[in-house]
Amino acid sequence: MSEKQLSIKHLTGLEGVPADDIRLILNTADSFREILERPIKKVPTLTGVTVVNFFYEASTRTRLSFEMAEKRLNADVVNFSTSTSSAKKGETLKDTIRNIEAMKIDMVVIRHGHSGAPDYLARVTDAIILNAGDGCHEHPTQGLLDLLTMRQNLKKPFKDLRVVLVGDFRHSRVIRSNIWGLKALGASVAVCGPPSLIPAGATAFDIDIYDDLDEALKDADVVNVMRIQLERQEGGLIPSLREYNRTFGLTSERLKNTKKDLLIMHPGPINRGVEIDTDVADGPRSVILQQVTNGVAIRMASLVLLAPQKEAVAG
Ligand code: CP
Repeated sequence: MSEKQLSIKHLTGLEGVPADDIRLILNTADSFREILERPIKKVPTLTGVTVVNFFYEASTRTRLSFEMAEKRLNADVVNFSTSTSSAKKGETLKDTIRNIEAMKIDMVVIRHGHSGAPDYLARVTDAIILNAGDGCHEHPTQGLLDLLTMRQNLKKPFKDLRVVLVGDFRHSRVIRSNIWGLKALGASVAVCGPPSLIPAGATAFDIDIYDDLDEALKDADVVNVMRIQLERQEGGLIPSLREYNRTFGLTSERLKNTKKDLLIMHPGPINRGVEIDTDVADGPRSVILQQVTNGVAIRMASLVLLAPQKEAVAG
């Protein structure tokens, strides 16, 4: 494993993370991908490190892949569930984390509905914080696994890559993490979506913005399609799901006018027939399940590179 170190202490977002840190995580994840192909997929790298997984919002891929990554690294793993905890009795996030910290933990993985919750924890605890998705802010390990998947499939450097992110920019933490990560590595980035779902201040991201998907996809090497977040729509932002599919859905008809080797990605969970049709999501250009596999490797790499150094104590 690499002797190099990250310049960041926590992974709460990709905004401001230097390109060298991103490359180090991707390179380390590549070596973990190799370990995941072995018959025994376990290494003792995090022996003696205790990781708590806090999931205040639903998750399948991120929660399971973090837990799998921790177990593959031989960490001690504790899972915190809001439905059976004193959060139900009104205990604050700060009190909850400080009480758990008093039990001597090292790292916290947190998914939370409020943007900024991971940064807040990083300020009020000594534990190392990894953001597993916070509100509409960022989802950095998703951004990193998307970068790794692009790097594995495309035969050109990021600086020559054109990536189109399609969907609900206003609510999407995945779009934000993709933008920061891609721009750090020099890629050309565009977002395409309904004007009602483009946030105020989007121009500050220094990206191209489209409301015509066919136009946006013309020169694209990668299209990363976002889920329409039905739970975060305030009403009236999109006319109907059928209309959304007609205007912004990735369909096989639409792919006829794109590059033949356009890479198709989606972070999941998928609304089939809304933002992407089933034949496209399951078709030959799709790497959606490869993204999921890469998720375990990226989370292993992030945990190892951020983990505190432990000295073995004799006797
Ligand atoms: N991509 C993603 O964050 O999926 P989950 O919500 O299932 O974790």
